[in-house]
Amino acid sequence: MSTKSINFMLNKIDMDRMPKHVAIIMDGNGRWAKKRLLPRTAGHREGVERVKEIVEEAGNLGIPYLTLFAFSTENWGRPKDEVDTLMKLLVEYLKKELNTLHENNVKINILGNLDKLPPTPRKEVYNAVEKTKYNSKMNLNIALNYGGRYEIVNGIKLLVNDVKSGNINLDDIDEDLFKNYLFTKDQPDPDLLIRPSGEKRISNFLLYQIAYTEFIFTDVYWPEFTTEEFYKSIIEFQSRKRRFGGI
Ligand code: IPE
Ligand code: IPE
Ligand code: MG
Repeated sequence: MSTKSINFMLNKIDMDRMPKHVAIIMDGNGRWAKKRLLPRTAGHREGVERVKEIVEEAGNLGIPYLTLFAFSTENWGRPKDEVDTLMKLLVEYLKKELNTLHENNVKINILGNLDKLPPTPRKEVYNAVEKTKYNSKMNLNIALNYGGRYEIVNGIKLLVNDVKSGNINLDDIDEDLFKNYLFTKDQPDPDLLIRPSGEKRISNFLLYQIAYTEFIFTDVYWPEFTTEEFYKSIIEFQSRKRRFGGI
């Protein structure tokens, strides 16, 4: 896309009404590859290019929280080769991009349980989180071995522990307090959730946090989700009227 048309779209975006938190289910890598008679891994590789592009763009737009669904608790059920490739791509991404992310003041958070990750990706992920922990321009949440139901059940366990040890009274438990037991602790709920690939489902993503989130489902596959598609989604989001149950 030309700079001229990118700028044309950018002009339609109201910088004062930017979503604070955008979440994306990065879906459709396999189908993108299949359409081109390529192995699924080629789709994942191209998908990483979009990750770089959209993270940078979210920074440019001043979006303070970006959550990317990279690997679900259910994705372990895929063929071992594919899981291995996804883990390898994660390590490659962090190795190549960590310095740039750090220079750009991006803080990396992980949503999910890292215990199940193989040692190499686990080490890279811990290193990235540690290195960027004082950064403050933008939060990049990577949902990794993430499941919404797991997150809620895990939160309940932590909360019950706090009640048992007397740190919390049963009467103090409310919706806001419970949020502190989720991986997104201290973060605003997503304003906008985008799912490319034509699927219109949540697939166990951020179940607690999306109560009043605006959804955009688009038919392009994740490897095709360029800056232009991202701008389109933001423009569509800004045209929506959010009511939060009011009138
Ligand atoms: C998303 O693309 C990547 C992950 C789930 C890790 P898919 O691999 O699900 O691609 P499709 O849905 O099969 O096209
Ligand atoms: C959701 O995509 C998970 C990620 C994008 C990481 P899936 O491809 O796993 O979801 P389903 O199977 O189509 O629901
Ligand atoms: Mg999929």
